[in-house]
Amino acid sequence: MTAKAACSDFLHFFRSWVSNPLRVAAIAPSGDSLARIMTSEIAALDGPIIELGPGTGVFTRALLARGVSEADLTLIEYGPEFISSLQARFPTARVLQMDAAHLADADIFEGEPVGAVVSGLPLLSMSPRKIVSILAGAFAYMRPGGAVYQFT
Ligand SMILES: C[S@@+](CC[C@H](N)C(=O)[O-])C[C@H]1O[C@@H](n2cnc3c(N)ncnc32)[C@H](O)[C@@H]1O
Repeated sequence: MTAKAACSDFLHFFRSWVSNPLRVAAIAPSGDSLARIMTSEIAALDGPIIELGPGTGVFTRALLARGVSEADLTLIEYGPEFISSLQARFPTARVLQMDAAHLADADIFEGEPVGAVVSGLPLLSMSPRKIVSILAGAFAYMRPGGAVYQFT
């Protein structure tokens, strides 16, 4: 990513945080080092993969760098302000604008269960009830041996 693109992502993210600090919960997107650590155990064969709260797509890019196919990615983002740029950047990924707490009801996967869930969600600013709904939804789609990756 060029310095200009990184700066534009920072401004986009910062404005989102100003308008919704509890949901966005960070003033800037995660850095590339964290993205590499978050995705370091994931390989192409783990697809399909769910990413929760992709924001500007830092972890999404790291997943692609790990060899995961873009078509194997489902990006669940609640913030409407991030949706069009995610769709433009990752045109063959599935981008769903929804609250991750409704994952289980949404019935988003019919076929193969997912091998990994990567989450940048601000769980610490959510109620215990909401956290349980999100995790129950994530595990409901997971295959045996799959994993959830969360940073906070
Ligand atoms: C701390 S930011 C992390 C963004 C990105 N993963 C990163 O690390 O740069 C949290 C992201 O989760 C999204 N988010 C917050 N609550 C959500 C929810 N209930 N469902 C889906 N996305 C949510 C926010 O809009 C934001 O994009």
